Amino acid sequence: MRGPLNIGIAGLGTVGAGTVQLLHRQAELLAVRAGRRLAVAAVSARDKGRDRGADLSTARWYDDAVAMAADPAIEIVVELIGGADGVGRRVVETALAHKKHVVTANKALMAEHGTALAEAAEAAGVALAFEAAVAGGIPIIKALREGLAGNRLSRVYGILNGTTNYILTTMRESGRDFAEVLAEAQQLGYAEADPSFDVDGVDASHKLAILASVAFGRPVDLAGVYCEGIRQVSRLDIEFAEELGYRIKLLGIARLTDHGLEQRVHPCMVRRVTPIAAVEGVFNGIVAEGDFVGQLMLEGRGAGAGPTASAVVADIVDIATGRRVAPFGVPITALERVPGAPMERHEGAYYIRLMVKDEPGVIADVAAALRDQKVSLESMIQRGRSPSEAVPVVLTTHATVEAAMQRALAQIGKLDSVLEPPQIIRIEDF
Ligand SMILES: NC(=O)c1ccc[n+]([C@@H]2O[C@H](COP(=O)([O-])OP(=O)(O)OC[C@H]3O[C@@H](n4cnc5c(N)ncnc54)[C@H](OP(=O)(O)O)[C@@H]3O)[C@@H](O)[C@H]2O)c1
Repeated sequence: MRGPLNIGIAGLGTVGAGTVQLLHRQAELLAVRAGRRLAVAAVSARDKGRDRGADLSTARWYDDAVAMAADPAIEIVVELIGGADGVGRRVVETALAHKKHVVTANKALMAEHGTALAEAAEAAGVALAFEAAVAGGIPIIKALREGLAGNRLSRVYGILNGTTNYILTTMRESGRDFAEVLAEAQQLGYAEADPSFDVDGVDASHKLAILASVAFGRPVDLAGVYCEGIRQVSRLDIEFAEELGYRIKLLGIARLTDHGLEQRVHPCMVRRVTPIAAVEGVFNGIVAEGDFVGQLMLEGRGAGAGPTASAVVADIVDIATGRRVAPFGVPITALERVPGAPMERHEGAYYIRLMVKDEPGVIADVAAALRDQKVSLESMIQRGRSPSEAVPVVLTTHATVEAAMQRALAQIGKLDSVLEPPQIIRIEDF
């Protein structure tokens, strides 16, 4: 067996400490699978005194993670600090500049700077591996890039954020509102004190941009992701979805259309019988559709120390054994500059919920606004009869173009009898 492979780990938080623990616990198994012992030769974090739940006595400590990335004794730099810019980015850039392999779990960094970093890795002749950056323990990057290399993919979609899936699942199961369930998720540690990264869809957008790049062999285009979060989803919408045979999920969807590549993150109604509807709680699930393989789905834990460390270590083993694939599956020059499809041209069915005054003529006015934009209705549910209160009216449409729907909604929103801004949720026909 060759000598040990010296690894430097920058960041010893949830994922970093989990990775060190996994490397220690599975040392014998990994030595066989990697053909060399995997040695944690150097580490860096802010607080040297903090217990990381693992023996770091043989690792060289660096206060400066960037200096560690330049250490000639280190062959693989594992970046687990985070952030699109700042120290995490400098660690990765320094490692690549010193021709060291890089493994990172940093989705923000890969979504913002993935193409440039892949270019630097290619020029240096080293690996840039980021399995842990998308859907934690689910090996989706490898599945898309290597396992499905014989296919042209038409669509990749999934539940990419466990926090929002937990919130939506709990809202449905308990019949409670978003704010109450979010507060509980924060107390339980499932949601951050500042939840916007998760609930506004930012985290899912980062992951979708990376997935789309791998699936469709194009430069990472975070700015091209249309993004809406789940704050507007109400208990009422969840009840109506159930009544209509749907479940509401925050999905990231990348799809090749005649207008270019569509990338969007927003709440969706999916039929309750579909496999993706059954992915509940903190779990993630991703579906890929290929021309030869058909449809396939992977489900698992998208975050947490163990699952994320599992993905980080798989990347390390690949590098140790010399299994090397271009970060996005093809050389940088072969990345296709497919144009992004504008959201206005998206075509699909819609759920619309209105809160209206219960008086004659309301439905006729709403129907007229939809007719004017050639939006054809599929169903309508009208609830309750209380002249003094707002009552919900729910409509579903046949496939229609987003721009027409937005024009109709603007018109509907101006009606005196419509008391709140209309709520829409796109219906996905999987
Ligand atoms: N948590 C997950 O489940 C998960 C899943 C998938 C991907 N990720 C990604 O993995 C990365 C790490 O996430 P995490 O949850 O492990 O974060 P975390 O628990 O906040 O840990 C961050 C680590 O970075 C260290 N650090 C911060 N600034 C530093 C600096 N200037 N120099 C050296 N070290 C520094 C911190 O040191 P101290 O400990 O001393 O403060 C800490 O150990 C992020 O990119 C995240 O998006 C996380």
